[in-house]
Amino acid sequence: MLIYVLKKRCEIKMNQVILGIETTCDDTGIGICINNKIVANQIISSTKMHQVYGGVVPEIAARAHEQNLIVALEKALKVANLDFKDISHIAYADRPGLPGCLHVGRTFAKSLGLCLDIPIIPINHLYGHLFSGAINNSPVIYPALGLVVSGGHTSIYLIKSASNIELLSETADDAIGEVYDKVARALGLTYPGGPEIDKLYDESLKKSIVFLNNSTQHKAFSYSGFKTAVINYINKIKVGKAKFNIKAIASSFQYWIINDFLNRVNFFLKQHKVKMIALGGGVSANSYLRQEIKKISLPVLISEMQYTNDNGAMHAYYASVLLKENSKKDISKLV
Ligand code: KG4
Ligand code: ZN
Repeated sequence: MLIYVLKKRCEIKMNQVILGIETTCDDTGIGICINNKIVANQIISSTKMHQVYGGVVPEIAARAHEQNLIVALEKALKVANLDFKDISHIAYADRPGLPGCLHVGRTFAKSLGLCLDIPIIPINHLYGHLFSGAINNSPVIYPALGLVVSGGHTSIYLIKSASNIELLSETADDAIGEVYDKVARALGLTYPGGPEIDKLYDESLKKSIVFLNNSTQHKAFSYSGFKTAVINYINKIKVGKAKFNIKAIASSFQYWIINDFLNRVNFFLKQHKVKMIALGGGVSANSYLRQEIKKISLPVLISEMQYTNDNGAMHAYYASVLLKENSKKDISKLV
């Protein structure tokens, strides 16, 4: 038995065991990646604490990370049957995100790195989302068109390699997830509103209300005007005390916004010859988006549901790809 345990410890020491830390918004995530395979993905969400306010309260989220990080870490190590000493690298979400929340994650990563005397790798959270579709799947083949659709970002990238990612365009104002959340609030649904609207979606009602029809294929995009149009539509009905057809509004809204985004994607596909599409971020959980994007005649890597929302596993996985690609460079300056 002792020999087995020692042998196992030696095997782990020779492996690359990357701890991924996520604290950009309201999810505290710890993931572990051993040699490109995710072996743990623990998420403790503070979403319920924010529901009464209709959106994330940064101070509450930061305090929750402070409490939850060590709990998630201990759980992740237990699931992976590892010890603190087995960790070889720490990859943490360094940006973008809520400043207080990022600070908690960064301080945690730096302290742990110092205690264990191992390297820490600051990760761009959005790049974690971009590569999340490759977890338990085939790797990203370059060049790829990268799409991040989340609560805070709607961005399109040209992924030339893991350490060479060019931003092609992003929303000038609201992100798609944010619009979902605001429209859902106007409809009286709970936060986060994306999954709630998705559940109400009915294919037969998708064209029942025409909100706007300016969905053109061009580089710049914006969702604030569309959000206002939908919310004004809902408020007008409320003022008139009429009953609104929640399913018709949810279905028409989802149909319009997802198709608008896919129009932008098609615009960039015409500009850049890519081998595949990599899609990630909270809104990539959307059933209609998942269905429609597969109609594009290119391979599409979409995150498994457990990796669509914010999580630490995607940062650990992305760090493993970065390390493989840059074995001789200073890893603290990779992204
Ligand atoms: O990536 P994420 O967990 O956090 C950010 O980095 O923002 O994304 C959260 C967002 C929320 O706005 C939520 O409403 C949205 O993702 N979302 C969805 C769905 N599931 C989550 N939006 C549309 N349809 C869904 N099924
Ligand atoms: Zn995110």
